[in-house]
Amino acid sequence: MKIITTKSELAVAVSSLKKKGLSIGLVPTMGALHAGHISLIAQSKQKTDVTVTSIFVNPTQFNNQEDLIKYPKPIEDDIRKLESVGCDILFLPSVGEMYKEGEVWDYEVGELDFLLEGEFRSGHYKGVTQIVYKLFSLVEPDVAFFGQKDYQQFLVVSKMVQDFNLPLTLVACEIIREDDGLAMSSRNIRLNTEERTISTVLFKALTYIKKHYTEIPVEDLVKHAKSYFTDNDLLKLEYLKICDKNTLQEIKDKPADGAIALIACYVGNTRLIDNMILS
Ligand code: PAJ
Repeated sequence: MKIITTKSELAVAVSSLKKKGLSIGLVPTMGALHAGHISLIAQSKQKTDVTVTSIFVNPTQFNNQEDLIKYPKPIEDDIRKLESVGCDILFLPSVGEMYKEGEVWDYEVGELDFLLEGEFRSGHYKGVTQIVYKLFSLVEPDVAFFGQKDYQQFLVVSKMVQDFNLPLTLVACEIIREDDGLAMSSRNIRLNTEERTISTVLFKALTYIKKHYTEIPVEDLVKHAKSYFTDNDLLKLEYLKICDKNTLQEIKDKPADGAIALIACYVGNTRLIDNMILS
């Protein structure tokens, strides 16, 4: 695997791949790689000629400085994992390589910036679109792979691709879970034993919603699902909503087609998100 840390070196590699007519798959990540990330890389390897994985802990998408500082960075392990899965290029830039002082990014994400994650992590999607746009322009991928785990992020990036008419295809990949249902996440390693045990509550609540979606009025279903989070002080639910899967507008009364349930919850000091498509 080739490790590239500068934009200029990346430009040379990309132009040589383009000259050879090879298709490029991009998997953007912030590292601390787990089986969820690896599944994206496996899909890219299946669908494109050359897979580029980026690892960059993007400061502009963190609205909590402590979360940024605490973000795990096991780079040696990550490199080993990328090599064993057959990733072709790792793009591993520094902050200085990706941003200049005082840089502005004016893209208006729109409605999706204020709902769910947008409401609780103000400015998060501004930062995500800023870095993803940069990665798209540097890597010039034919296909870029994102996880359904960050469902709202996938919708936001899809909208940006449409708004700028970017010449690439996006692929959403299914959520990879631990055996007990917890969605894999780089943040899971911060959970202590007790927190890890109760963190399955997100999956249990989502499974309950999916099972009863057409039988119980939406309001009652949400109320009951929320009660899963009330009897443990370590849990602090931020949102649990059933929404239209294209607009993320809340579905409040009758169950509708194309619905998704989404949850964000603190388990101790660790914020976890998860979702499940209902129909
Ligand atoms: P990160 O959290 O590292 O996730 C990188 C990609 O892996 C995202 O597309 C995410 O949805 C996907 N992913 C995470 N957990 C997954 C799981 N359990 N199953 C399947 N896919 C999973 O998302 C980001 O980084 C950043 O916001 C980024 C897009 C890189 C921009 O900085």
